[in-house]
Amino acid sequence: MSGLVLAIDGPAASGKSTTARRVADRLSFHHVNSGLLYRAITWLTLREGWDEHAADYAIDLHLEESGQGLDVSLNGVRPGAQLHSQRVSGRVSSVSKVAAVRSKILEVLREAGRRFHVVCDGRDIGTVVFPDARLKVFLVASVEERARRRLGDYQVEATAARLREEVELLRARDEADSGREIAPLRPADDAVRIDSTRLGFEEVVDRIVNLWKATSELS
Ligand code: CDP
Repeated sequence: MSGLVLAIDGPAASGKSTTARRVADRLSFHHVNSGLLYRAITWLTLREGWDEHAADYAIDLHLEESGQGLDVSLNGVRPGAQLHSQRVSGRVSSVSKVAAVRSKILEVLREAGRRFHVVCDGRDIGTVVFPDARLKVFLVASVEERARRRLGDYQVEATAARLREEVELLRARDEADSGREIAPLRPADDAVRIDSTRLGFEEVVDRIVNLWKATSELS
């Protein structure tokens, strides 16, 4: 038996994960943050000093139920907060281009989709991972707004220089994610696009929950 899937894709720092988590809470679904899986493998390549193209990805990667939903476990370790370090963020787009990495993660995500009802966020969820998802959302926001939000996450003061630097980091990651050959960042043809630049967080969550309810009534 397969669970229900709500897919949320979008560029870096567009608010996908926080939104997906809240939507999952509201629908009593599990939240699956696929970016965390890419970050986990990136963290391992850095820790072990691997060349990401030459590495053997025979690793034990899975999602475990924890108090707060599904947590990444990698070779028995839960890397937690380290997954959001600047070092990992700077390298993750390069690791996520590797075919062996993508197929490993695809397997883990589809397994979660078979076992649970999920709100899954990422870059290729509606296009590649769950092309039959009942609802697909593509969440965008201006790069300046995304940079402001990311600095807020880091609890760093948003000086003009720091904002410029963050805008450049986000642009570079978006370009790498959109330009890669396998599973590039793009909206699925049947995705609903939501621009959150001028919307409040709860407003975005409400829109998605309402869209889900409307889609469920149709089926
Ligand atoms: O939270 P943030 O927007 O910074 O990114 P993330 O969702 O944690 O994803 C980190 C990186 O993983 C992205 O920049 C992509 O390179 C990669 N990724 C991917 O290739 N496919 C996905 N479905 C999710 C993430």
